[in-house]
Amino acid sequence: MNFASLQPRIQTILSGENTPVETKLTQICEWLQEQVPHYDWVGFYFANEAERTLHLKAFAGEPTDHTVIPFGKGICGQVAESNANFVVPNVKAQDNYIACSIHVKSEIVIPLFKDGKNIGQIDIDSHTINPFSKADEHFLEWVNEAVAEVL
Ligand code: SME
Repeated sequence: MNFASLQPRIQTILSGENTPVETKLTQICEWLQEQVPHYDWVGFYFANEAERTLHLKAFAGEPTDHTVIPFGKGICGQVAESNANFVVPNVKAQDNYIACSIHVKSEIVIPLFKDGKNIGQIDIDSHTINPFSKADEHFLEWVNEAVAEVL
């Protein structure tokens, strides 16, 4: 996958004047889900620090029941506390995992930092086993840095 070829469109989406942030985030989710064959569900969660919960703000793919996730629960909730990328090659091998669909086989969650603080994350589910590489991690870190600039 040539991730660099996806960057200009993301820059264009983010630079849109008068477009609400949630719309931009949804457009990014849709673009990534459309363009990357192993990205079957793409979403952005943001933290409510007081309540220690994550809230789904934008997504592309099947609607999920898990729009609010407590810190510590599932892959997403663990990343809210660890501040580290979490790549899951096979979700069946995870104890602390929240299943969104029976089709999901793997997942990647990358924290989103604003001014050095972990304020949210991009979460991607795949119907393929073990599809994520360092290239996915680096690209998604870049996406989150670009998003942080418009927040
Ligand atoms: N699987 C995630 C929950 C969110 S869904 O993938 C949309 C988790 O374990 O945190």
